[in-house]
Order: sequence, then structure tokens, then C-alpha cells
Amino acid sequence: MRILSGIQPSGQLHIGNYFGMMQAMINSQDQGELFAFIVNLHALTSVHDRERLSRDTLNAAADFIALGLDPERCVLWVQGDLPEVCELAWALSTLTPMGLLERCHSYKDKIAKGIAPNHGLFAYPVLMAADILFFQADRVPVGRDQKQHLEVARDIAIKFNNTFGETFTLPEPIISDDMAVIPGLDGQKMSKSYGNTIPIFIDKKEMKKRVMAIKTDSTPVEEAKDPDKCNLFQIYRLFAPADRLAATLDLYENGGAMYGKIKLELLDLIWDYFAAARVRREELLADPEGLRAILARGAEKARAVAATTLGRVRDSLGLRY
Ligand code: ADP
Ligand code: TRP
Repeated sequence: MRILSGIQPSGQLHIGNYFGMMQAMINSQDQGELFAFIVNLHALTSVHDRERLSRDTLNAAADFIALGLDPERCVLWVQGDLPEVCELAWALSTLTPMGLLERCHSYKDKIAKGIAPNHGLFAYPVLMAADILFFQADRVPVGRDQKQHLEVARDIAIKFNNTFGETFTLPEPIISDDMAVIPGLDGQKMSKSYGNTIPIFIDKKEMKKRVMAIKTDSTPVEEAKDPDKCNLFQIYRLFAPADRLAATLDLYENGGAMYGKIKLELLDLIWDYFAAARVRREELLADPEGLRAILARGAEKARAVAATTLGRVRDSLGLRY
């Protein structure tokens, strides 16, 4: 089984990214053949700052590896190092009805947030479909917000297969309950663009500021509280060991939960949870050439697989003459 997923190198990785999709990606190394990549071409739809993009790309590679992706056990590369994907995206775009893209929530949401509606942003799902179909991925772990893009990829694959004969595997999204949307400090979806994140790799002082800023209600301490409606608890449950979780749940249900105290405990839990990854990341970033070599090897492995698909696509379309 082939599992594939990508993440944009746009900004600091946060716990929503981690529990929303990275953890599933890391675990999937044991379940099948994992293809993991950093989508710098997609990031171009919103980042036009060369220093930032190149720095964030290398940082993203360090983040992935530090958190548990093993470049020996998976294929890890940078999307733009395999520009052939743009050829496939173009071919797919000629089969993609405008209406399919016009319906995409993500495009509408991004425009609503003030991002200029460039063509790349509109065509984003087609490049994502090319990413997925290139490698004949069976499973694609993503956060819930990417589900529609997966449906677009499937629709395009079906259209291609119907028009030109069986060429592409139809990908299945993997969105388990654990991968529900992780709330941010304000209770909305945690997202870089909402400024409500808890980044994984920041110093403890900054992390404390973020954790203490998690919004809570003003129910008195002694009153019972609904843990399902409390975003502090929703984040706490991701990190707390079973005995602590049970004890805190009891305080929510029977009164006595003190938000300030829970936040301080949460801070230490998050800090300890990522302690080993923090050390590993520093080591990786201290050797950028080593990181680049890992990514170059990954791109070669990915290219070998993509070449087979590209050959079939060129034949199907009549691009060879
Ligand atoms: P952001 O919204 O911070 O810009 P991205 O759009 O780069 O994050 O998302 C990268 C991956 O992480 C996607 O698969 C996305 O679904 C997942 N993800 C991001 N934020 C969350 C969240 N709050 N909860 C669950 N998954 C998330
Ligand atoms: N669109 C995804 C996101 O913003 C990133 C992405 C690009 C992706 N190509 C992909 C995810 C292919 C899975 C498979 O999170």
C-alpha cells in the first residue's frame, strides 16, 4: 500500500498540523510505503519571499525528520525538485471542469481572508491532484480541511481513466476521528493564518505565552464544566497521560477545575512531549548540507517512481509522436 502526503513550508509547524496529519504520516511508515514531501510549489500561491520560502523549506525537512520521519524508511523530497509534476498538472488541468474548482471551499476561504486570488490559488487542487496521482497513492492522510481536495483528485482521476483508459489509482483520504480539527487558542481551527497556533518548535517562554492565552470561559472553579466545549481541554487531552486525563476530567465533571493550573500542566506536557524532537531538529539544522543531501536522495527515489506514470500519461495523451 502506498501512502502519500505533503505539507506546505509556510511558517512554523504547529500542534494542529502534528495531530491533524503528521502523526498519521509518521505512523504510516510502519503500515506501507510512505511518500512524504514539502510542497514549495503550492506555497508559492501565498509566499513571494525567496529567503522565507527557502529557509522554511529546509526547516520543514528538519521538522519532519526530527518528529519521526525516517528518510531511510520513506521517500522524503521537496516538490519543486521534481518539476515533472507541473507537466502532469497541466495535462490534468485540461480535463478539469472549471465548476469543480469554483466549488472548492479552500479557495473561497483564502480569498475571504484577503489573499489575492491568483490563478495558482485557483488551480491549487489540480497541482495537488498531480502530486497524488503521479505516485499512484492508495491512501492520503490529511486534515479534514483537505478532504474536498482529495475528492477533486479522485474526480480528475476518474475522468482521465474514463477518457484515456485505466491510468491512475483512485486515492482514499484517511481522516480518522483522532485527526478531527484541532482548535486553536481562540477555539477556531488552529491555523497559521488565524494567528492562534501553538508552534511546536519555539522557546519555552514563548510557548508559555501561547498556552496561557488559550481562551476559557468564566464558569466559577467549583462549578461543573463541559470538557467537550472547552478548547483548553480539547488540547490538553492530546498530551495528557491516561491517569492525568481521568483526574482532570473528573474535575471538569464534578467541579474544581482551575484553568490556570491546567494550563501550566499543559505547558510542561507539551514541552516534554517534543523534547527529543527539539534536540534532533537542532542537530539537523546545524548541518544544512547533510539535510540537502537527504532531500536530493529522496527526489531521486521519487523521480524513479514518477517516471513510470509520466511515460504512461504521455503515451495516453499522444504527446509522444
Ligand atoms: P495552516 O492552516 O496552519 O496554514 P496547513 O494548511 O499548512 O496549516 O495544513 C497542513 C496540514 O495540517 C493539512 O493536512 C491540514 O489539514 C492539517 N491541519 C492544519 N491545521 C489543522 C488543525 N487545526 N487541525 C487538524 N489538522 C490541521
Ligand atoms: N494542500 C495540502 C495542504 O495545504 C498540501 C498538499 C499538497 C498535499 N499536495 C498534497 C497533501 C498531496 C496531500 C497530498 O495541507
